Formats: sequence, structure tokens, C-alpha cells
Amino acid sequence: MGVQISPSILSADFAELAAECERVAGAADWLHVDVMDNHFVPNLTLGLPIVEALLKRVSTPVDCHLMIDDPDRWAPPYAEAGAGSVTFHVEAAANPVQVARDIRAAGARAGMAVKPGTDIEPWLHLLPELDMLLVMTVEPGFGGQSFMADMMPKVRRVREAVKAGDLQLWIQVDGGVAPDTIERCADAGADVFVAGSAVYRADDPAEACRRLRASAAAASDASWWCA
Ligand code: DX5
Ligand code: ZN
Repeated sequence: MGVQISPSILSADFAELAAECERVAGAADWLHVDVMDNHFVPNLTLGLPIVEALLKRVSTPVDCHLMIDDPDRWAPPYAEAGAGSVTFHVEAAANPVQVARDIRAAGARAGMAVKPGTDIEPWLHLLPELDMLLVMTVEPGFGGQSFMADMMPKVRRVREAVKAGDLQLWIQVDGGVAPDTIERCADAGADVFVAGSAVYRADDPAEACRRLRASAAAASDASWWCA
């Protein structure tokens, strides 16, 4: 696939969501929708009814990042609603393999996210069950935080596992991804880049997406990309 850009609408104007999504149409591969439940993370954003409403209005595929408790129960409905990708947190799941299988069975790509403090080693054996692994580069919960460069070894470790296993797995980074940090992520092996404030606080969000894509592509090893 190569580099993919997934702007986070967390930094958009929530009173104008459909219009804000249109501002990146054609420049973004995905719309990253941060679902927060005030339990798994302290913040509260939006849930299934708003995702369902957005899906009727936007043409760009929707990438749901579920920062919620009990994804075993609540993740599959996002796939059933038509999200193209649904990512749950491993820390919140009782049975991560079953969640991933349920998401896939409902027709979406299955993603699994790990918080900065979560070691990836115990979960590497799950990668064949997944379409994407999200390495958080901030503590989940809020936009506009500082990028954690110390997560790059985790990205490299996942990329090594993808290569070793010849897996068709995308590696997403989320948090503090911006013009001054995206090259490090791409160099470490990420190929799907979430950016909230770097896109929606720019004067021209579509142009911000294009610039991020060009920076990431320049720093990526094209041989990593799945066919
Ligand atoms: C944080 C969210 C991110 C957030 C990123 O918990 O998962 O998607 O929107 O925002 P920036 O790019 O501003 O760090
Ligand atoms: Zn996110």
C-alpha cells in the first residue's frame, strides 16, 4: 500500500464534522475517529451514533480508534456500521483474538492498539490475526501532546516481526505525528500515520496531509510495504 495518512478529527470542529471531513477528501486515505468513553481514558468524545451519521456523509473510509472498555462487546458494531477499520486496545480486551475475528467477520479491517507502557513482546504472536497494529506515540486520551520518540524501538520490533513472518500487517502510529516527527516514524517502519493537530490546525488541512505523506514516503523503505 505504501504510506497512508489518517487525519484525526479529534482536532477538527465538532460542530462541523462532515464539512471538516470534506476538507481532507482526496488527500487523506482514512478519517481517524477517536472514540473515548471516559473510562478507558479520562476523556469523552463520541460514539456509535455519530460514527453512523458520519458514515452516511463522508466518502473517505473511516478508521475508528476505540479507546473504550469492553471492546469485546462494543467493537464489532462499529464494523457492522461500515467503518473500514476498527482498532481496539489490547489493554481493554478480555479476548483480543476473538475481538479481531469478530471485527473481520463484520467486514472491517481489524486493528489492535498498544499504549506506550504496554510491552509488545507478549502480543507478537497475535499479529497474524490482525490487519493493523497501532503503536501509540502518546498516552491515549488527548490531542496535541508531545511525540514519544522512545516508542520507535517498539515500531522497529513490530516491523521486524512483520518481515520475519511475511505478514500483511499495517503499522500505525498515533500521537504527536507532525512534520518534525513523521520521518522518524517512517524510518522505524510505520506505514499508516495519524495526525490530528498537525492537519486540523494547519491553514490548509489537505495540503498538510500531502506534505506529511511526502515526508513519510521519503523516509520509508519501500521494500517494507505489503503488496
Ligand atoms: C489521542 C488520539 C489521537 C489524537 C492525535 O489519544 O488517539 O488520535 O487525535 O492528536 P495529535 O496528532 O494532535 O497528537
Ligand atoms: Zn487515535
